[in-house]
Amino acid sequence: MKIAVIGTGMVGRAVAGRLASLGHDVVIGTRNVERTLGRTDPEHTGASPYAEWHRNNLDVRLVPFADAGSHGEIIVNATNGAVSLQALAAVGADNLAGKVLIDIALPLDRSETPPMLLVANTDSLGEQIQRAFPQARVVKTLHTVLADIMVDPARLPGNHNIFLAGEDEAAKNMTKELLREFGWRDEVIIDLGGIKGARRSEMYMPLFFALTSALGTYEFNIAIVKG
Ligand SMILES: NC(=O)c1ccc[n+]([C@@H]2O[C@H](COP(=O)([O-])OP(=O)(O)OC[C@H]3O[C@@H](n4cnc5c(N)ncnc54)[C@H](OP(=O)(O)O)[C@@H]3O)[C@@H](O)[C@H]2O)c1
Repeated sequence: MKIAVIGTGMVGRAVAGRLASLGHDVVIGTRNVERTLGRTDPEHTGASPYAEWHRNNLDVRLVPFADAGSHGEIIVNATNGAVSLQALAAVGADNLAGKVLIDIALPLDRSETPPMLLVANTDSLGEQIQRAFPQARVVKTLHTVLADIMVDPARLPGNHNIFLAGEDEAAKNMTKELLREFGWRDEVIIDLGGIKGARRSEMYMPLFFALTSALGTYEFNIAIVKG
């Protein structure tokens, strides 16, 4: 499948690298290819400069946002959530129309420690994206775990859960197929219903950041136990 991952950070790299290793035809979208390849400083997450990752993942082509949009039959949003609407506008509403848009981004104000949500309670980034690009078939998922766990849930022992939400059932089924390819089994995937479910799972993040402090690691997930 032709897949465009929008975003060159640790999430974009983890998702693009895994999809390519699974045999998909993957591009990564960035604002400016030369500038991204020319960066030498580590990222804010501590990730190495993009060029280093690129040298080891030459099957994933780095292209401008709009070219990524025209390549992808499925588009993955892995951009900084504070600017995802601008980034997706640069990908192009026409390039998003009719396509599954998997939204992993979080609307975080990173000037605060721990980060605060920029939108909550009555709205969410997932909903904002669906409203801004009404012809895209937005599915919110994977944002509740660390990038490496998104694409390889077996890094953690036992059963643990992942959420998804979106208006379009066929889009959710296509997304589930990719989740299965990553290793998420059907029984751990929890469908929160329509795109309003995005506000519920995005609002897990304050607890997520509290848990990173309490546990001293980002390598964890939650497991739902039913009575
Ligand atoms: N890190 C995790 O494990 C994790 C877990 C759950 C959810 N998330 C969420 O996943 C998303 C990606 O996280 P990340 O740490 O991989 O990367 P990030 O640093 O949050 O975002 C990097 C991407 O955002 C783009 N970007 C930054 N400013 C922009 C602007 N003004 N206009 C357009 N695009 C802009 C960058 O474009 P360039 O390529 O041009 O620089 C880059 O592609 C975020 O929303 C994050 O909150 C992350």
